[in-house]
Amino acid sequence: MKVDRSEASDSLLKKAEAIAREAGARLREFFLQGVATEYKGDVDLVTVADRTVEKLIRARLGEVYPEHGVYGEEGTRDGLEREFRWYVDPLDGTTNFAHGFPQFCVSMGLEQRPAGTKAEEDGKLVAGVIYDPMRDELFAAERGRGATVNGRAIHVSQNAELAESLVATGFPSRKRHASPNVHFYQEFTLRSHGVRRAGSAALDLAYIAAGRLDAFWEFNLNPWDTAAGILMVEEAGGRVTDFAGAAVELNSREVLGSNGLIHEEMVALFKDLFAGRNLAPIPTPAEWAAQRAARTVQS
Ligand code: IPD
Ligand code: CA
Ligand code: CA
Repeated sequence: MKVDRSEASDSLLKKAEAIAREAGARLREFFLQGVATEYKGDVDLVTVADRTVEKLIRARLGEVYPEHGVYGEEGTRDGLEREFRWYVDPLDGTTNFAHGFPQFCVSMGLEQRPAGTKAEEDGKLVAGVIYDPMRDELFAAERGRGATVNGRAIHVSQNAELAESLVATGFPSRKRHASPNVHFYQEFTLRSHGVRRAGSAALDLAYIAAGRLDAFWEFNLNPWDTAAGILMVEEAGGRVTDFAGAAVELNSREVLGSNGLIHEEMVALFKDLFAGRNLAPIPTPAEWAAQRAARTVQS
């Protein structure tokens, strides 16, 4: 792919990185001081940090890119008809954050849409930054220019077999929607070195880009969770599709990212599992309790 080394492009990422670092520093302060948790509706957790940091990012983007649109998780919907629009998750990993579990980040992905594209139509992802303020790790990617962490180039892993891979997934907040993912969690656990569920989808994707994870999937994510991470994985040499292996769209309800080498194996497994094939039998809790009771009687 042709690499664009223009100054304009350099400064685009630099400005976004500076905003993500400032936003992350605010999150870190809130995290260390401790914040009260509220419910957004009766479902998702939200804190003053989510709202304050979204406002901060909105203001900073307005200063440096007044011509760009912004779509943020905490309600920002500005200029969505514009050529460039940012998908902003000010705090990805709110549940972790609220419990003092230090795995969360700021995620900002930039989409570019050809002139005449309707507000509801997708363009292509052109830049993304994901910042983990607790580890001071800033992941950045720009289309055609690769992916970096703190300025060092990163690349997906070389594992070619699911059986030797470490993968990850996530689950929706409680009650948000029904999800069959526990079945997939079980099946992928049996077929890999393990499935991590660390609670920040954006960091999960960044970790594939950095070769720390070999794959990640989740049902029902939103564009603010995935926009930056999808580009990060692709620019680090990996692949992102839906569970059937088709091109992923920003509003896709399925995201499967991998190092590329185990992608087809995972897609084939999704196909089997959706068709009800190859499910490993697992005892229900009641069956397990009955077996345990029988063992107790024997001994
Ligand atoms: C959540 C995290 C989590 C994923 C959830 C997301 P939030 O984002 O990315 O890992 O499993 O589905 O909603 O709510 O903390 O921004
Ligand atoms: Ca999120
Ligand atoms: Ca969030």
